Amino acid sequence: MDIFNLYSKYYDLIYSDKNYTSEVNYVESLFHNNSRYKNILEFGCGTGIHAKMLAQKDYFVHGIDSSPEMIKVAKDRSSDLDRDIFNNISFECSDIRHFRSNNKYDNIISLFHVICYLTSNKDIEDAFRNAYVHLKKGGSFIFDIWHAPAIIEDGFSIRFKSLENSDLLINRYTRPSLHADNISKIDYDIYIFDKSKETWSFVDETHFIRFFTISEIKYFAEKTGFSFAIGEEWITGNTPSSKTWSVTIVLNKNLE
Ligand SMILES: C[S@@+](CC[C@H](N)C(=O)[O-])C[C@H]1O[C@@H](n2cnc3c(N)ncnc32)[C@H](O)[C@@H]1O
Repeated sequence: MDIFNLYSKYYDLIYSDKNYTSEVNYVESLFHNNSRYKNILEFGCGTGIHAKMLAQKDYFVHGIDSSPEMIKVAKDRSSDLDRDIFNNISFECSDIRHFRSNNKYDNIISLFHVICYLTSNKDIEDAFRNAYVHLKKGGSFIFDIWHAPAIIEDGFSIRFKSLENSDLLINRYTRPSLHADNISKIDYDIYIFDKSKETWSFVDETHFIRFFTISEIKYFAEKTGFSFAIGEEWITGNTPSSKTWSVTIVLNKNLE
């Protein structure tokens, strides 16, 4: 996922308007309500914000991401943690389709449409099977998807976002188009103003993002051994509609 190596430099500023605290509280509410369920594997951890916050809540988190640069930012971010919390968190550069470990986890999370970067059926099945293998019985695989009905209805208009901190101003244009029946091609044009050097630079990149119906996810869940447990609107928990862009999915690995 080379695009994220470039992106990692600006990623946190571009998404600094996201409320990570409420996201982590929401995801935690989906975990089993049992203090023994503490070992978390994160698929596509990115710059490690969720992982760090979960470690601060006494979870043990292992984050994997295919982008070495994202992993570097994640490791740097957690380096200032107190030693006892620092020992709760680890990161590894690996692909969620091919990651292998002898460890089994209580829950696997994959947040902010990581799963949508898997555009072929085989890639999705490989990642789901991999989640299944690395979950303990009774554990859950929790992730969010772009929801097809909303994307088809309203997913193809040009969007603009501007964010700044003390060092940088970033203007980003998002130009989505339909690449295939269920895949958006998202062209990002990113203009970056370096405040100290007073110079502009430009980055453009293309992401291919698959969107799903909940029925498709049920199909992949069944094919890979999971039981479908939840399909609800991200954060609100409402029933998904054609206005719901982001749907949270919870798949369970049954006890028997
Ligand atoms: C939109 S970002 C989300 C990052 C993070 N979860 C967050 O909430 O900020 C998508 C992440 O998925 C990672 N990714 C995409 N495909 C992957 C794959 N096959 N294996 C591992 N990581 C992948 C990218 O490198 C990127 O860091």
